[in-house]
Amino acid sequence: MKLKELESCLQQVDVFEEPKLLLEQYPTSPHIAGCMLYTIHNTFDDIKGKLVADLGCGCGVLSIGAAVLDAGLCVGFEVDEDAVDIFKGNVEEFELPNIDVVQCDVCCLETMSFAKKFDTVIMNPPFGTKHNQGIDMTFLKTAISMAKTAVYSLHKTSTREHIQKKADDWNVKMEVIAELRYDLPATYKFHKKKSVDIQVDFIRFSLK
Ligand SMILES: C[S@@+](CC[C@H](N)C(=O)[O-])C[C@H]1O[C@@H](n2cnc3c(N)ncnc32)[C@H](O)[C@@H]1O
Repeated sequence: MKLKELESCLQQVDVFEEPKLLLEQYPTSPHIAGCMLYTIHNTFDDIKGKLVADLGCGCGVLSIGAAVLDAGLCVGFEVDEDAVDIFKGNVEEFELPNIDVVQCDVCCLETMSFAKKFDTVIMNPPFGTKHNQGIDMTFLKTAISMAKTAVYSLHKTSTREHIQKKADDWNVKMEVIAELRYDLPATYKFHKKKSVDIQVDFIRFSLK
């Protein structure tokens, strides 16, 4: 599948109706999601036939993209019931058999029995800017505990050094695959501009 085809397919995914500020419900744009998944699939062969987890899956743009690219199974994990409902509606629309969703708090997953149960973990985690400082690192630690091969994640570029230190502590190799300008739509009342660009790293953590 070509990148343009993947991107236009992901434009059909419904997103949050009323995004929740405290949960940092910024959807990944079809363009960014398409580029991420295309790279994970074509450069690293970490999707086709693999068991994939999507942490903080929201309405499912990354999960659906992984399923469209022939993941063996992609399982989304999301705390918010409304987002899970939209996710399920999207799955019905796309008629995909290789996708599922679990409603749960990702911060509690590490203690459950998911250690090394997935080949690949993909995610656009909350960045930890809404009275939830550190949640990005909790997501990352959980993802690393769940994956056998690799974790792909988006993180604010300003946190790169901190993440590198943590990756070194955890003995995990980290590679910044791309630097992105992430366009946050002015979904929330406190945003005065139409949209706000933030610098974000697309990072691969390899576990093998
Ligand atoms: C930046 S959004 C990304 C959504 C989606 N993955 C996407 O790419 O469009 C972060 C998501 O994490 C979810 N989330 C926040 N805290 C969570 C938690 N503790 N456990 C599970 N999901 C959580 C939010 O509800 C939201 O859907």
